[in-house]
Amino acid sequence: MITKVKLKNWRSHADSTLEFTPGTNALIGIMGSGKSSIMDAICFALFGTFPNLQSKKLKLDDVIMKKPSEKNVAEVEVVLDLNGTKYTIKRSIERGKGTMFSEISAGGNVLESPNSSRVSEAVEKNLKVNYELFSKAIYSEQNALDYFLTIPRGQRMKRIDELLMIDKFEKARTNAVTLANRVSDRRSAKQSVIEQIDVETINQILKELRAIYIETSQEINSLRKKTVDASQKRKALEGEFEGLMKVKEEFEFLKRDERGIEKSLEVVSKNLAALEQATKGLLKEKAQKDFDETKRKISETNAELRKKKTDFEAATSAISDKKSNASSLKKEIDLLGKEYEKKLARKKEYEQFKSEIGADTERQISETKKLLDKATEDATKTYAKISDLNEFIVHLQSPETKCPICETILSEERKKLLIVQKYQQIKQLQETFENLKAQKEMADEKLEKAREAAEKMQMLLTEIAGIDVLRKDLEDLKKNFVETSNEVFNAENSLTNMRREVQNFEERLRESELRRNDLELLMAKFGDYEEKKFEFEQLTMERQQVESRLQEKEKKISGKDLLALDSELKQTIAEEREYDVRINEMEKLLKERMQRIEGQEEKLKEAEKYKEEVLRLEQTIRNLKIFSQALEQTQVELRQEFIIAVNHTMNEIWQAIYPYHDLVGVRLQVEEGDYVLQLQERSGSWINVEGIASGGERSIAALALRIAFSLVLAPQLRMLILDEPTANLDANAIEVLGTTLRERISDIIDQTFLITHDEKLENAVTGSLYKLEREKEKDGVTKVINIA
Ligand SMILES: Nc1ncnc2c1ncn2[C@@H]1O[C@H](COP(=O)(O)OP(=O)(O)O)[C@@H](O)[C@H]1O
Ligand SMILES: [Mg+2]
Repeated sequence: MITKVKLKNWRSHADSTLEFTPGTNALIGIMGSGKSSIMDAICFALFGTFPNLQSKKLKLDDVIMKKPSEKNVAEVEVVLDLNGTKYTIKRSIERGKGTMFSEISAGGNVLESPNSSRVSEAVEKNLKVNYELFSKAIYSEQNALDYFLTIPRGQRMKRIDELLMIDKFEKARTNAVTLANRVSDRRSAKQSVIEQIDVETINQILKELRAIYIETSQEINSLRKKTVDASQKRKALEGEFEGLMKVKEEFEFLKRDERGIEKSLEVVSKNLAALEQATKGLLKEKAQKDFDETKRKISETNAELRKKKTDFEAATSAISDKKSNASSLKKEIDLLGKEYEKKLARKKEYEQFKSEIGADTERQISETKKLLDKATEDATKTYAKISDLNEFIVHLQSPETKCPICETILSEERKKLLIVQKYQQIKQLQETFENLKAQKEMADEKLEKAREAAEKMQMLLTEIAGIDVLRKDLEDLKKNFVETSNEVFNAENSLTNMRREVQNFEERLRESELRRNDLELLMAKFGDYEEKKFEFEQLTMERQQVESRLQEKEKKISGKDLLALDSELKQTIAEEREYDVRINEMEKLLKERMQRIEGQEEKLKEAEKYKEEVLRLEQTIRNLKIFSQALEQTQVELRQEFIIAVNHTMNEIWQAIYPYHDLVGVRLQVEEGDYVLQLQERSGSWINVEGIASGGERSIAALALRIAFSLVLAPQLRMLILDEPTANLDANAIEVLGTTLRERISDIIDQTFLITHDEKLENAVTGSLYKLEREKEKDGVTKVINIA
């Protein structure tokens, strides 16, 4: 039972909520007020589609509200109560995008979401009804109450088969028949193959082939035995041949060795002879003694020579020392000589100067100094007297000048006289002073000159100092130099003698060394001789050994014919090869025969296999026939059962929904392979609804059929939707329908939805009654008014 429907932006519904109860619920309103839209919404909520959408009269976007204002999303929600469980199903559509969200929940738990087709599957599973059944058996589209009767005759059985989904049996049956025909074709093809295979001939050929095969195999075996024998013989011969060849080779090697030894012997003999000649008449012991003696002499001479050389070197270095001494003496003599010459020149100069100046310069200086001091003293005294006189004149010029002797005041005349006297005295004194000054200057000059002369004399004296010592040194040095030069001369003479001695020793050493070398050579020859002698003996022994081995080998080879052995070996190898070739050929033949045998056996096997397959295919054909018969029978039985159930239900409700008594029964009857709806007259005879019954009778019969379909096909819903069912009904029939819906139908169907524009049917309502209003001219939205 549907308890609630909610619509949002669904066609003309902006936001409508409707609640329903068991019994007959009605939606009443004028044409275009939005009634059918509600039923479409219920169908869409359950299955994601509704008839007008399914038949493509509408597009999904068309159900989203366009007027009065265009919306983008439409939503529907349906609440169902099934055996006490509350199911809520919601779907929403977005413009341009199709169904965007679907959900089914049961008892508040989401069963499936958001995939649309999976929600539809969940609905089908829980409601046990699919879209086909719902749209045909429950939801009679507008004006389609008599849907069944509008199906052309001849097609009704097919449509109802589809509704029952037993049309699939028919499809399966035809498929089975087609399959059986195809299998039969295959069987025939295989059969014809079998018939073409001649088993008897094949068996005869096989017998012959096998006999030949055995014969060839035996032949190959005997050849193999021969090959084995030949191979053994060959191996033995090869062994013998190889052994002999080896001995021969060894023999050759030994021969070569022998030749080598002989050649060596020859060379050694020659060497020996030469050495014998070289040492003839000489004794090894004597030579050794001489050698040792010479060596001793050499070492002695060497020691002495070394000593002489050391002495010589010492003398040489002593001479060089003396020479350098003499040369440095010479240098010193030259140096001192020059200095002496210089001093001598100065001495002469001094003597000359002395004779010119006089010897006593100091006395001259002191006398001149005395003169100078006297003049200086006198000048000083004179100057003091002048100063006193000047002072007295100044005194006289003052007003009350007293006489310095008598202390009386001097008269002016006296003063003047005195001043003149004094001035005269000053003049005399000044002349004396000038004289004295001139005397002093002269004395100064003289003193200066005397001093200079004394200084020069002193300087010359200093330079001359040590001239006697110098002369003495110079003489000593010269004496020394003469002595050293003599020594050098003597030493050089003795050095020449020493050199001669060294040369003598060197000569003697050379001679001794030459002798030692000769003796050494002789000793070596004695050594060589012994060595060669030993070598000679050794080689002689080796030759004996090689000769005895050669005899041994010769013994082995003698009496053997290598050529004959070789040709026998070659013959054996040829035989062996020939056997191999023959075996190969025969094996090829054998293989060929085997292939032929296998080919024939294959044919026999194929024939066997085909026979089995034909039997299997025949069995399949039989099974398919049984299967298709069973399908046909099942289909017929299902159809019969459906008709029985529908007829049973219709007759049960007929009394309830048909208010008159002239027609007592209704049935669906098979006629000429199709269904017809029939009514039974009181007399018991059946009349066809089409053609014979009145419009009202036809409508009630159609209603009975619809109720029966609903109850038989969707027994768990017990629901019926009637959209404008009054289309073909007269007033009386409408009244009858109203009464039936109000009074009788509730016993049979739990919930009915009546959709009508006919306000007379208002009294048929036993559940909810909604009036729908809409201002169509203004593109208004649907207004839903709950009346009851
Ligand atoms: N998408 C839509 N938006 C607005 N109005 C629509 C839409 N689709 C259909 N309609 C209007 O809704 C009305 C059809 O509603 P319907 O349920 O068939 O009416 P009725 O009551 O006759 O069954 C029409 O008048 C139509 O113009
Ligand atoms: Mg309508």
